[in-house]
Amino acid sequence: MPLPEAFLQELKSRSDLADIASSYVHLRRSGRHLVGLCPFHGEKTPSFHVYGENGSFYCFGCGAGGDVITFVRKIENLDYMEAIRWLADRAGMQVPENQVEDGLGKLKTRLLEINREAARFYHAVLMSPEGRPGLQYLEKRGLSLKTIRSFGLGFSPESRFSLVNHLRKKGFTDEEMVQANVAFRGRNGGVADRFFGRVMYPIIDLRGNVIAFGGRILTDQKPKYLNTSDTLVFHKSQSLFALNFAKNVSSQQMILAEGYMDVIALHQAGFPTAIATLGTALTAQQANLLAKYAREIVICYDADEAGQKATARAIPLLRNAGLQVKVLTIPQGKDPDEYIRSWGEQGYARFKQLLDSTGNDVEYRLEKIRRSCALDTAEGRVAYLTGAAELLSTLENKIEQEVYAAKLASEIGVDKYAIQQQISKYASRQRKQREQKEFQSFQQQRAGLRDRVNPEKAAHLRAATAEEALIGALCRYPEYQDLAAKELPAEKMLTGFNRKVYSVILDCGKEGKNFSLTDIADRFQEEELAAIAGMMARTQDLTIRKQDVEEYIRIIQWENEKLQAERATAGEVGDIQAYLENLKSMKK
Ligand code: UTP
Ligand code: MN
Repeated sequence: MPLPEAFLQELKSRSDLADIASSYVHLRRSGRHLVGLCPFHGEKTPSFHVYGENGSFYCFGCGAGGDVITFVRKIENLDYMEAIRWLADRAGMQVPENQVEDGLGKLKTRLLEINREAARFYHAVLMSPEGRPGLQYLEKRGLSLKTIRSFGLGFSPESRFSLVNHLRKKGFTDEEMVQANVAFRGRNGGVADRFFGRVMYPIIDLRGNVIAFGGRILTDQKPKYLNTSDTLVFHKSQSLFALNFAKNVSSQQMILAEGYMDVIALHQAGFPTAIATLGTALTAQQANLLAKYAREIVICYDADEAGQKATARAIPLLRNAGLQVKVLTIPQGKDPDEYIRSWGEQGYARFKQLLDSTGNDVEYRLEKIRRSCALDTAEGRVAYLTGAAELLSTLENKIEQEVYAAKLASEIGVDKYAIQQQISKYASRQRKQREQKEFQSFQQQRAGLRDRVNPEKAAHLRAATAEEALIGALCRYPEYQDLAAKELPAEKMLTGFNRKVYSVILDCGKEGKNFSLTDIADRFQEEELAAIAGMMARTQDLTIRKQDVEEYIRIIQWENEKLQAERATAGEVGDIQAYLENLKSMKK
C-alpha cells in the first residue's frame, strides 16, 4: 500500500535536500545551485550539484543523482521505507506504519527470520555430536567456547537436506529459502541446503539481524569459503563482518583485516574493533560506513602480493571518506590470526606493539618506494625523490606535504624547496589528467556508450539526445507540456527508457501536478532516477525557449520516421529470407 499523498507532501516540504546534503558534503553556492565534492565517489574537483528549486542532486562525475529520498538511501545505506522513516524522524513526523507493510517488506522480514533460524540451527548442530568435526576444527584453531558463542558460530551438517527440512517444519516455504540463499533449487525443481560440512560464520548487520553466512570447509577443498550471494537483505558491498561488535567499542580506531578468522582471532585476543570485508575488495560505500564509527583505520591485510595490492586500493578509498589511515605489516608474512596464535599467551602484547609502532599510510608508501631504490647511488636517490614527490603530490593536506618534504630533504640532503617545487609540478599535472578523465567519462556517458539505464541510446544517439533535452526542458518548464503532448505522443519516443519517463511526465502534467522527482520516485529504480536527475541537471544553465522545445520534437519525429523507413526495408529482406527458407523446406 503506498504512503498517503498528504504525508509524503508534508515530509517533502520539511526535508530540504540542500540542508540534509550539507551535513555530509561541504557545499558552496555556484550560481543558482550548490556544488561540492561528491560523497558517492572519490574526486578532487567538485562535480556534485544540488538544485534547490526542484530538490534534486546530480554528480557529473559518477552519475549519482535523484531526490532527497534517493540521497538519504544512498548515503545512509537504507531502503526506500527506511529512508522515509529516517526523514520522518528528522522532521518530527510519524510514518503511518500499518499501511506501509508492503509485500517486499514482508518478504524481507521472512528472509531475516530464516537467517536467524538458520543461525540458531547451525549453532545447535555445532554444539551437538553431529557438529563434533566443526567444534574440533575451531578449537584446533584456538577459539574458546566463549568466542564461538559470542560470534554465534555454527556447523552445517553433511546431509544435503538438514536445514531445508528444519526450516520447512518451522513453516518456511522452499521459495523463501531460495530467496534467502540458504538453499538452492536443483535441476529437478527440488531444493537442497546451500551449505554442508562447513563451519558457519553468521554475518550480522548493525541492527543485530543475521543477514548472511560465510561457510568454511574443514579440508583443503575449494572453495575454501562459500558466502551468501546478495539477497534482498544482504548487499556484500555495503556490509562489513563484525562491525556490529566494533561499532559499540568507544575507540576512534578500527582494524581492517582480510578474513573472518583474522577478525575473530583479533577480537579474542583483545582487539574488538577488528572488522573485515566479505571476501571482496573494500568499496567506497564500506569506507563511508566506517567513517561514521571511526576516525582512523589500520589496514592489516596479508603480507602477500594480493594483500599489498588490496592495501594500495583501500588507502585512497578510506582517505576519501575522511579517515586517517595506517598500514600494519606483520612480520614473516603471517596473517593476524597466525601471528597472534604463534605468540600464544603473549598474543595481545605482541600485536599491540605492532599496532603502536605502525606508521601511517604515507610512511608505508614512502618505505615501499625507498626499498625499491639503491640509495647509495645518485641515480637511486633521484629515483627515490622523484617517486616520493609524486606520492606526496597526491596528498590533499598541505601541512602533511610540507612535513614529509622537510623529512625527505634532510634524509637525502637536498633543498626542501626543490622537493616542494617538484611536488607542485606533479600536482598540477595530475589535476589536468583528472579533469580530462572526468570529462571523458562524462562525455562517454553522454554519448550513450556506457548507458546502462537506457541501453537503446547507443543505437539512436541523435534521437536520444533530443529526447533527454526535451525531458529536461519539460521538467523545468511545465508550461511546454501541453505543446509536447499535442505534437509528440509518447510512443514516438525512440528509446524505451525515455519513452517511459516522458509518458510519466505527461501524466503528471494532465493531473495538473507540478512535477518533482519525488512524485515519480516509486515508478523508477534508483539508477533510473539518477539518469532523470542528470537530464534535469544538464538543462539547468540553459534558457529554453519555445523554439528549442519545438526543435527537440522535430528531431525526434524525424528520427522516428527514418527508423520506420529503415524497418520497412528490413522487413522486405526478412520476407525474402522467409520465402527462401520456405522453398528449401519444401524441396526436402
Ligand atoms: P583468507 O584465505 O586469507 O581467509 O581469505 P582466512 O580468514 O585467513 O581463512 P583461514 O585462516 O584459512 O580460515 C580472506 C577472506 O576472503 C574470503 C573470506 O571472506 C576470507 O575470510 N574468501 C576466501 C572467500 O570468500 N572465498 C574463498 O574461497 C577464500
Ligand atoms: Mn588465515
